[in-house]
Amino acid sequence: MAGNYDYLKKITPESSNLIRGLQAVQAQEGYVSDESIVAVAGYFNTPVVETEGVLSFYAQFKRTKPGKYKICVCDGTACHIKGSTLILDWVSTELGIGNGETDAGGVFSLETVACLGCCSLAPVFSINGRVFGNLDRKSTIRILKEYRNK
Ligand code: FES
Repeated sequence: MAGNYDYLKKITPESSNLIRGLQAVQAQEGYVSDESIVAVAGYFNTPVVETEGVLSFYAQFKRTKPGKYKICVCDGTACHIKGSTLILDWVSTELGIGNGETDAGGVFSLETVACLGCCSLAPVFSINGRVFGNLDRKSTIRILKEYRNK
């Protein structure tokens, strides 16, 4: 196997464990690269095409490398009511990336998530797990600029 996939060795190399293997790769790398697909397919003795099929079927798997700063815009009910769609638009416009994308420099990635557990602060997003609440356009842009200049 190219690369270091030693962590896969904790999983029995049977095709029925393919999804567990892909989950392990994502937990380790933050996404599933083309190289990882080949490695996992080989380890679990499953054709690459079938492995890609499993990946595309399950929305939990990410195919792009996350950015240095991972922005999660909450789209739970409370945040949705308080304008999470606008927050997503503002972040998207400011960074030039859509939902599920990473910018060309690998600095920011953007995704929507379910409730982040702090609905009283709605609308919220998190950046690498740090939550920012009561967002409006001004605070959203200010926070992004702060991270861009870090
Ligand atoms: S709905 Fe956004 S934090 Fe709960």
